[in-house]
Amino acid sequence: MKPLALITGANKGIGFEIARQLGKLDYHVIVGARSIERGTSAVEALKSEGIDADFVELDVTNSDSINKLPNFIRSKFGRLDVLVNNAAILLDYDGPRPSDTDMQVLRQTFETNFFGVFLVTQSLLPLLRESPAGRIVNLSSSVGSLSSILDKYSPLSQVVSPAYQASKTALNALTVLFAKELESTKIKVNSACPGPVKTDQNPKRGVLSVEEGADTAVWLATLPADGSTGGFFNSRKPVPW
Ligand SMILES: NC(=O)c1ccc[n+]([C@@H]2O[C@H](COP(=O)([O-])OP(=O)(O)OC[C@H]3O[C@@H](n4cnc5c(N)ncnc54)[C@H](OP(=O)(O)O)[C@@H]3O)[C@@H](O)[C@H]2O)c1
Repeated sequence: MKPLALITGANKGIGFEIARQLGKLDYHVIVGARSIERGTSAVEALKSEGIDADFVELDVTNSDSINKLPNFIRSKFGRLDVLVNNAAILLDYDGPRPSDTDMQVLRQTFETNFFGVFLVTQSLLPLLRESPAGRIVNLSSSVGSLSSILDKYSPLSQVVSPAYQASKTALNALTVLFAKELESTKIKVNSACPGPVKTDQNPKRGVLSVEEGADTAVWLATLPADGSTGGFFNSRKPVPW
């Protein structure tokens, strides 16, 4: 039986490409998307490449949508091996500065990028615990790396997207906290930074292709039993928290 992977926000961008690359590695992929239309057309595109793909309607800010997930996956597939928490929003691309950041922007960003990941992960852990090789990959960003923000020689220290940055810093905390809780199990939990990828989220500074951006996440999703857990990686190399 093929291993089964759920990718959130997989209707476009890096998430779609992660689904495509995992599908090419003979994983059965479930495209999580909040729009039925966008999700099913992504599934059709994957199927046209010979990939086993299914759709699940999933808005990571909607707890009803999340609560239905475990039963849907268990009844339809009976298993889950990989969870890629990819869905995210970036509302403060060019600022404003922290002192001018709107509380609504901060809350909305955390709803998707942090609480959404937390709830989806919590709801699917029972299924992942049953997998012979459970893998959780959180799509993070080096713009949320505290070391890089504090390093005045790093170009990343110039980025001003406080709500997004704080949400990714917090997401990295989830990675290490879940990894620690699960260290005696077969589940590995890691954060992946895709680098600056040209997508709708990063239209100005993105330079990498989605193929390049998806690579580290796919590598982490397919780690062998002796692979790392509780790490933060870009280009398959550890990066500072
Ligand atoms: N691009 C970069 O340079 C870059 C750099 C570092 C990290 N990342 C991270 O990589 C991941 C993918 O980014 P991307 O560049 O591919 O972004 P993208 O093209 O904007 O795609 C984001 C995906 O997330 C989905 N999404 C947003 N809110 C959602 C919700 N509430 N429920 C379900 N799905 C939701 C979007 O769905 P809709 O189509 O319905 O909006 C879309 O499918 C994100 O976690 C991002 O923060 C990206």
